[in-house]
Amino acid sequence: MKKGFIFDLDGVIVDTAKYHFLAWQNLANSLGISFSEEQNEQLKGVSRVRSLEKILEWGNKTISEEEFTRLMHEKNEEYLNYISKMDTSEILPDVPRVLDYLMKEQQAIALGSASKNARIILEKVELKNKFHAIVDGTNVSKAKPDPEVFLIGAQELGISPGDCVVFEDSVAGIQAANVANMISIGIGDPSVLGEADYVFKDFTEIKEEFINNLVSAKKV
Ligand code: BG6
Ligand code: MG
Repeated sequence: MKKGFIFDLDGVIVDTAKYHFLAWQNLANSLGISFSEEQNEQLKGVSRVRSLEKILEWGNKTISEEEFTRLMHEKNEEYLNYISKMDTSEILPDVPRVLDYLMKEQQAIALGSASKNARIILEKVELKNKFHAIVDGTNVSKAKPDPEVFLIGAQELGISPGDCVVFEDSVAGIQAANVANMISIGIGDPSVLGEADYVFKDFTEIKEEFINNLVSAKKV
């Protein structure tokens, strides 16, 4: 049987949260707003626009539209500078093993990310050719927890949503997968990702037997 396997990017395939953190922290500090790693956690899976809105809310700051646009651009320039130095060593453990196994089993594989930089990152870590479809922040109008990104992914793979499985590290992403009627697999902390159908610390815990079971499973 052929299923669709849809992967989030940031925090699932690569650990880019540290780069988002550095760039947002510099931006927040330049506005006199403090920004902690705990706050950065709350920006996981959140779009660039919404992330800046949240930081301004935390700092109780109001800025003009022009300033908002300028700051978003500045943040992204700094982030692009960090990711320009990325290489295959930044792929999270056992991601290539799982992707290669799915390929070998002739399953359909898609990326479903909120990031507008997803394609650049996949190229830097040399994983772009592992995906049959790539849906990212440039293809969607509604942010997770809206299921749009995953539904487009399923459509591009030609697989019905009920036959798709999503790997996600953010609460909003798990909710999006559930709303899309897809099997949701949390990658991270079970106490945070409790809404997922399954949670694993990382891909080292995802064995071939589990994947084989997913291929024949249906969301209940
Ligand atoms: C998500 C990240 O995948 O993409 C968020 O978890 C990020 O932290 C969002 O803000 C948008 O990314 P980008 O690269 O378009 O700024
Ligand atoms: Mg993520």
